[in-house]
Amino acid sequence: MSGIERRVLALSGSLRKASLNTTLLRAAEEAAPPGTKVTLFDALEAVPLFNEDLESGTVPPAVKHLRDAVGRADGLLISTPEYNHSIPGVLKNALDWLSRSTPSRVLAGKPVAVMGATVGTWGTRLAQAALRQVLFSTESLVMPRSALFVRGATGLFDPSGKLIDSATSAALCSLMREFTDWINLVGPAALRGDASLDSPSV
Ligand code: FNR
Repeated sequence: MSGIERRVLALSGSLRKASLNTTLLRAAEEAAPPGTKVTLFDALEAVPLFNEDLESGTVPPAVKHLRDAVGRADGLLISTPEYNHSIPGVLKNALDWLSRSTPSRVLAGKPVAVMGATVGTWGTRLAQAALRQVLFSTESLVMPRSALFVRGATGLFDPSGKLIDSATSAALCSLMREFTDWINLVGPAALRGDASLDSPSV
C-alpha cells in the first residue's frame, strides 16, 4: 500500500472568494498525511443548473470536467456551508449532475468525507445531515465518523488563510488521517492491495 498516492478531490459548497469552507479545504491540503494528495476543485461556478434536457446532447463541458475529476479521485472531501438549515443550491446542483447514471454513476461507491464551517454557533450540523442524506441516495460510502463541525469560523484563520486555531487544526489532521484509512478500507481494490479483486473472474 505504501508508495501509492491517494487522490482526494476537495469540493466546497461555497462560491464566495473568501469562503471559510474553501479556506478550510485549503487547510486540509496541508493537514493530509503523507501519501494523500488533496486537490481543490475550483470550477464549480461554471456548472449549469441541472436540466434533463441538457443530458440529451453533448454534455456541458463544465459538467464533464467535474464528473471526470470526481471519477479520477480516490475520495471526495466536501466542506459545506449551511444555508437555511440545509446545503447550498450550488452543491446540491453539482451532486444532482454527479448522480446521473449516464455515462457513469461516479458517486456510487466513492469514499466521501463531510465537514463544514460557519460563522454561526452550530457548526453546519443540519447542512451536514442533509448532505449525508443526499449522499445516501447516490450510494456513496460516506465516512460514518461525526466529521468536523467548525463554528465561529471567522477567527480561526489568519488573513492569509492559514488555520491558526490549534484545536481545529488537530481535528482536521485527525479527520484527514481517518479519511485516508477509510479510503484504504473501502476504496479501489488497488489501494487495498487486494490484487485478486482486479483479476478477471474467468
Ligand atoms: C447563511 N448562514 C447560515 N449559517 C448557519 O449556521 N445556519 C444557517 O441556516 C445559515 N443560513 C444562511 C443562509 C444564507 C442564504 C446565507 C448566505 C448564509 C451563514 C453561513 O453559514 C455563513 O455565511 C458561512 O460563512 C458561509 O460559508 P462560506 O461562504 O464562508 O464558505
